[in-house]
Amino acid sequence: MQSDTLHFERQDEKGIITLNRPDVLNALNNQFFTDLTGILDALEKDPVRIIIITGSGKAFAAGADIAEMAGMTRVQAREFSRHGQSVFQRLEDWEYPVIAAVNGYALGGGCELCMACDIRIASAVAKFGQPEAKLGLIPGFGATQRLVQHVGFGNALYMLTSGRNISAEEAQRMGLVQEITEPDQLMERAHKFAGEILTSGPEAVKKVKLVIRKSASSSLPAGYELESNQFGALFEEEGTEGMKAFLEKRKPAW
Ligand code: CAA
Repeated sequence: MQSDTLHFERQDEKGIITLNRPDVLNALNNQFFTDLTGILDALEKDPVRIIIITGSGKAFAAGADIAEMAGMTRVQAREFSRHGQSVFQRLEDWEYPVIAAVNGYALGGGCELCMACDIRIASAVAKFGQPEAKLGLIPGFGATQRLVQHVGFGNALYMLTSGRNISAEEAQRMGLVQEITEPDQLMERAHKFAGEILTSGPEAVKKVKLVIRKSASSSLPAGYELESNQFGALFEEEGTEGMKAFLEKRKPAW
């Protein structure tokens, strides 16, 4: 599937989304959110078990499209923000894991996109940042909420107030990035990690994402309750096969 802003490719149980406006460092415009919605609609009907998102050229995404935003009124800007928030929320709620393979600049909306993914694998040359304050703005696609969850209040305010970019190494120290690779090995590494996830029980992977995501906005008792229920459910699903396979010293047949 090819659109003006994205390229989508299915490889067996994986879906690879490549942001594809390298001339403007994959800046995120309204069309991008519409196109991403189209891909998620298609994947809902015919799912894959993992999504990998990356960027073409030297950026993952250098933020919301400033040229498009510059002409917006207050009301249009609020709608743009809501549009972006809802599509990124949908990505975060996608039932299977989403890996961001961060190839270069992940700034502003680009950093917000990678934070809506479940796991971030970064090229050693990637740069992360929320430079909105340098434009006299604040983030509009969720960073005021997600960045705090990823790196804590101090680091979030450190990045959001200064607008400074940080290296992949610094991002990893803060907890934003899970792995760093050489630039030419990024996609190989992302596929390898996707392959590791694909050997886990598909229902277990779905359920662990569900419990972690839902519990982030619920109370501790509600989180424990959800965990126990989903844990129990697996004893009528693939958990029986997984444990049996272990005891019989063979690979599980999911
Ligand atoms: N929107 C629109 N166009 C962008 C863009 C953006 N966010 N980022 C880069 N571009 C365009 C540039 O205008 C340039 O276009 P031209 O060739 O037509 O001049 C092209 O992409 C290449 O960019 P540069 O020449 O600037 O490349 P560089 O290597 O010198 O610098 C950079 C790279 C440091 C990332 C720089 O492009 C930059 O600072 N970009 C803007 C980053 C930013 O402020 N992002 C936050 C946006 S606001 C936001 O995201 C709000 C939100 O949450 C909703």
